[in-house]
Amino acid sequence: MKRDTPMKKYPFTPLQIIMHLGAWYPLAKLAFDFLTGNVSPNPIQDMEQRTGRAAVTFLVLSLACSPFSAVFGWKELLKRRRALGLYAFLYASLHMLIFVNLDYGLAWSLLYQTVLQKPYILVGVTAFLLLVPLAITSFPVWQKRLKKNWKRLHRIVYVIGPLVILHYAWAKKGDLLRLQGDILRPAIYGLVLLVLLILRWAPVRKGIAALGSHLQSLFTNLKTGSSSNPG
Ligand code: HEM
Repeated sequence: MKRDTPMKKYPFTPLQIIMHLGAWYPLAKLAFDFLTGNVSPNPIQDMEQRTGRAAVTFLVLSLACSPFSAVFGWKELLKRRRALGLYAFLYASLHMLIFVNLDYGLAWSLLYQTVLQKPYILVGVTAFLLLVPLAITSFPVWQKRLKKNWKRLHRIVYVIGPLVILHYAWAKKGDLLRLQGDILRPAIYGLVLLVLLILRWAPVRKGIAALGSHLQSLFTNLKTGSSSNPG
């Protein structure tokens, strides 16, 4: 009997295992530290900061998949983008819930005032609200339904990324331009994000894809050359 797709030997690839374990680790560590009393004197702030950092990390990782797949020809990365993006959304949601629920005890009028008074929170809220439609429509059924508009919609990530970095840097209350305060980490995230966004720009992306396939064929030629010429 003819089989179209080769039977899968293992249900998960090594990359999938690393990704899922790595994604649940910050949450497991947070729960463990919380239960063992291993959090800072301000546990709510600690939780807020850790979930915020996890969210921005997974957002950046999800954006890194396409350029890395183009350069290294590692196609599996494209299949992991959605999960990474959803993990970013999961941590951003926890981050938001901790703020709204634990920090402000659902005091909506106070929350409203704070959001308006502190621009960095307004930026965070905007980024979060923009993430919501992306998370909902990240599933294949929506990709089929929205057709061309799906790509258009998911371009919002070009706005979300910079907003999140701005929110991060501002939350650290440093001066991004003078690299003052605890600004080094947001500056590194910002730089990585900038490089990734440039790599996604169509002309750059095409150039990289061409370079990637050139390098791959060079590599294949070298391999076949060395195996047909032993010694
Ligand atoms: C409803 C939306 C959001 C609210 C209300 C919010 C609120 C906050 C607050 C209050 C802080 C300061 C915590 C502190 O140091 O005391 C903070 C920091 C932070 N937020 Fe958000 N945020 C939101 C959305 C987001 C999103 C969407 C991301 C990333 C995808 C994010 C990532 C971060 C990061 C990385 C920090 C800094 C963590 C650190 O100090 O190391 N936030 N946020």
